[in-house]
Amino acid sequence: MFGNTTIGIDLGTANILVYNKSNGIILNEPSVVAMDIHTKSVLAIGQEAKEMIGKTPTNIIAVRPLKDGVIADFDITTGLLREIMRRVTGIVGSSVKRPNVVVCVPTGATSVERRAISDAVKSMGAKDVTLIEEPVAAAIGADLPVDEPIANVIVDIGGGTSEIAIISYGGIVTSTSVRTGGDHMDDEIIQHIRKNYNLLVGEATAERIKMELGYAPIPHTEATLDIRGRDLLTGLPMTITITSTEIQKALEETLGRILEAVRVTLEQCPAELSGDIVDRGIILTGGGSLLHGFQEWLVHQIDVPVHMAPNPLESVAIGTGMSLEYIDKISKKIN
Ligand SMILES: Nc1ncnc2c1ncn2[C@@H]1O[C@H](COP(=O)(O)OP(=O)(O)OP(=O)(O)O)[C@@H](O)[C@H]1O
Ligand SMILES: [Mg+2]
Repeated sequence: MFGNTTIGIDLGTANILVYNKSNGIILNEPSVVAMDIHTKSVLAIGQEAKEMIGKTPTNIIAVRPLKDGVIADFDITTGLLREIMRRVTGIVGSSVKRPNVVVCVPTGATSVERRAISDAVKSMGAKDVTLIEEPVAAAIGADLPVDEPIANVIVDIGGGTSEIAIISYGGIVTSTSVRTGGDHMDDEIIQHIRKNYNLLVGEATAERIKMELGYAPIPHTEATLDIRGRDLLTGLPMTITITSTEIQKALEETLGRILEAVRVTLEQCPAELSGDIVDRGIILTGGGSLLHGFQEWLVHQIDVPVHMAPNPLESVAIGTGMSLEYIDKISKKIN
């Protein structure tokens, strides 16, 4: 009588979100797992596990099982998904016992990677698993008219991947996926501080610096931040003051790669759709697009309007959950 509940999962490199039509975003947690290295049991996931990164005793590891947008460690990802399913069932009730699950994959994912994602989701008790391309989900979640014959351009800057896609008539006309994003920005910051100050800072500190002090290459009023780390020469804790100008410089290369991918995608746009882009512009989603000045910088570089999606961190999950309504046109079913 009642069909199985459908839930959408954005299995992101940085964050996992679960969406369901009647409940909205049910769960939103960092994609991090803390586990006992001997027993392999999952000790914590999500925010709790993220806070453990770089701070655990030797018998516990806090890891991110998804790297560059795809599954790097299958067993840990499966453990993470099981715990997520347990929580979702707790929140929504037993009606989600054997849900139909739609999960997004980066457009650049190989068939082996797609199969791994599908298998991991099945192993958490899903009845049916459908995969959808991440930028299509982002476009649906950002309320774009993806099933109309007009160019919808999505630029999704995630933790591990940046995806640029032109979507029309419910499908991808052309797309580019680069395996870079917010995580690389954090790495660049770690390298910069190491090279220039002989100071080692952890991932969490680097991410905080990026959010507070990171700017796309635009003019801005310089800000400073005191940060703490370990002096590589003495091994002792040390505090230094860094400026937004130097962090901006450290992020240039990653941003350059993203810009190049945007340019390449726009160049591949069929002439008939190019006019739409000039009129309608492009839509930004993904946490990386929240970098200070990113939107302004992109407008300046590509000279077409650039808009921020209403919920840039949630668009993919919302679109994934809503996508079954568009499914005949835009998704590929894997059994
Ligand atoms: N205000 C902000 N400024 C700069 N970066 C931010 C901000 N908020 C979040 N981020 C970055 O956005 C990234 C996470 O974005 P998102 O949740 O869209 O990624 P994801 O979907 O998990 O990754 P992927 O799509 O690559 O698998 C992280 O690198 C995070 O540091
Ligand atoms: Mg994402």
